[in-house]
Amino acid sequence: MLSEADNQLLCRVEGDAPMGRMLRDNFWVPAIRSARLEPDGAPIRLKFFGDDYVVFRSTDGRVGFFDEACPHRRASMALGRNEGNGLRCIFHGWKIDVSGKVVEMPNEHRDPERMCAKVKVGHYPTREVVGMVWVYLGAKAEPPPLQNFEFMTLPEEHVRILTVDIPCNWINSVEASIDDAHVGILHASFMDVYKDRRPHEVVAGPPAYEVDQHPYGFQGTVLRSLPGGRSMASSTHFAMPWFGFTSTGRPDAPGATRRAVHVAIPIDDYNYRQVFFSYDVNSPAENFFAGATEYDQDNFAPPLGGPETVWGQDREAMKNGHFSGFLSNLTSEDTAIQMSQGAIPDRTHEVLCSSDKAIGFMRHTLIQAARDYQAGKVPLGAAPGIDWSKIRSRLAFVEPGENWRDKLAAAPDFRVPAVALT
Ligand code: FES
Ligand SMILES: [Fe+2]
Repeated sequence: MLSEADNQLLCRVEGDAPMGRMLRDNFWVPAIRSARLEPDGAPIRLKFFGDDYVVFRSTDGRVGFFDEACPHRRASMALGRNEGNGLRCIFHGWKIDVSGKVVEMPNEHRDPERMCAKVKVGHYPTREVVGMVWVYLGAKAEPPPLQNFEFMTLPEEHVRILTVDIPCNWINSVEASIDDAHVGILHASFMDVYKDRRPHEVVAGPPAYEVDQHPYGFQGTVLRSLPGGRSMASSTHFAMPWFGFTSTGRPDAPGATRRAVHVAIPIDDYNYRQVFFSYDVNSPAENFFAGATEYDQDNFAPPLGGPETVWGQDREAMKNGHFSGFLSNLTSEDTAIQMSQGAIPDRTHEVLCSSDKAIGFMRHTLIQAARDYQAGKVPLGAAPGIDWSKIRSRLAFVEPGENWRDKLAAAPDFRVPAVALT
């Protein structure tokens, strides 16, 4: 449960909302898959934090990321011609080169060169890492370093990226990414796929949560009792500001070198872009997205409906044994739930229980980061020197009398050597 004021502080990102400012100023945004952009191809419209942008790949392969509105009279630059290493507005022909300078102004007869030099274009630095365009939308003159997550240091073919835009607030999704307690219940009908890695009867049991704070966010460890006094410890991680490292499988099962990171980027207050980075530290990543056979990588789990169709739920399928009635894939179960919670859920009327410990912790971590930012302090995750590449989920079986922290720390993690990203 949160106060209304804290809920607003947590969720709102548009304009001068402190959370949006904190996010933009301190963190790079995974914006769009690199493969979507072709040299001299159609520019693509994007919206983040309520602001409209346009992204394109120039003739020589560089990426340009501008405010969508033409600096002249605000026509959409998404209508522009992408040519000669720049974008040309089709209204009066102003051309902005890929670095964000106005270089041609064909409708100015007095002193076009001087006029060009005077115009300020909203343009943003980008980096391309593991097949993703990352953009810095903040106000700092010197952008912070990119977070050097493990998956960002792998060969590109080891990483698979899936994205989809969902009509609800980003926090609904961040919560789901660290909520291990729902996995064996909401996703019960998809758990067969993972049965070698996470036995369903174990995953469905009530979890005890332990939370350990770190400079990157926190580790939430789920402890579940097994027959014979043993227990299973499984860690998830919340990494500032929107990364959820979901639970992994048992280290001795096939596919133990696979991992997944779930990201929720605010499009505006009522929509978010979900990005999944699935990766294999040892080999090229296959399709290990449960339940999906064919899908569009850039719209991999589109919403099946809104409240008027009960979010597209299939009651017939439920009669025939499907637990949730969302057949297409596991993510459609998550997104239907998230939309049903409300575009911004009323968190003043929740009743939280013990398995919501990590959820509460994440909310307060982000709220504190926004408050620290407002107070001129360095928010969590923005201090220099954090080694993000060390973050990974682990699973360990713990015998009676053993310490679960020691067992988890000793679990094989198949690490790849860290690489610094600048
Ligand atoms: S509005 Fe773009 S050149 Fe006039
Ligand atoms: Fe889920």
